Amino acid sequence: MKGVIFNILEEMVIEHKGMAVWNDILNQEMNDEGVYTAGESYPDEKLFALVHAVSKHTNLAIEEVLATFGEFLFGKLAARYPVFIEGAADLKTFLKSIDSVIHVEVKKLYNNPNLPSFTYSEPSSDVLVMYYHSPRKLCLLAEGLIRGAASHYETPIQLSHPVCMHQGAPKCELSVRFL
Ligand code: HEM
Repeated sequence: MKGVIFNILEEMVIEHKGMAVWNDILNQEMNDEGVYTAGESYPDEKLFALVHAVSKHTNLAIEEVLATFGEFLFGKLAARYPVFIEGAADLKTFLKSIDSVIHVEVKKLYNNPNLPSFTYSEPSSDVLVMYYHSPRKLCLLAEGLIRGAASHYETPIQLSHPVCMHQGAPKCELSVRFL
């Protein structure tokens, strides 16, 4: 996982819980200095350890940390890379462009990023089903990112996750209903 993701998790903890909590997490749970370079890759296990530590020190369930982080992450990525977002006029167009445009641009920007893959189906005009696939199984982070995108586009949605890799499925189904 790229350092930029660690940097934004750090920003979230400091913004929501304060510097003292972040320092406690680093001092008590992590065996490094907590300095992560945006473009450098770190083992996925390090991010998972950090998410566990954040959960422990904030009394939020892991699922809640990932979902909140996904939403926060979207805002920060959109602010860092506005050009990626500007290309899509509405939320549905944006979500359909993640796999073929956004993450393709991410591959040009970062050396060997670990990205998920998305395929899509549109069973009706108000529903977009996003099929998430990744060995990291960060579908809850994806849910948070989708919610973050929906608030960025000021578009109300109903999000459901009827099929999940954590229940043994080969990929997750994230169903977005535009209200
Ligand atoms: C709703 C929109 C988006 C969704 C659902 C999404 C989904 C994800 C997920 C779930 C991951 C974690 C890795 C994995 O699951 O294997 C990820 C990684 C990443 N995404 Fe996206 N993403 C979105 C938008 C963006 C945008 C706008 C950017 C802008 C730069 C971006 C850049 C990245 C980067 C840098 C990583 C980390 C790659 C690495 O650590 O090697 N994503 N994305």
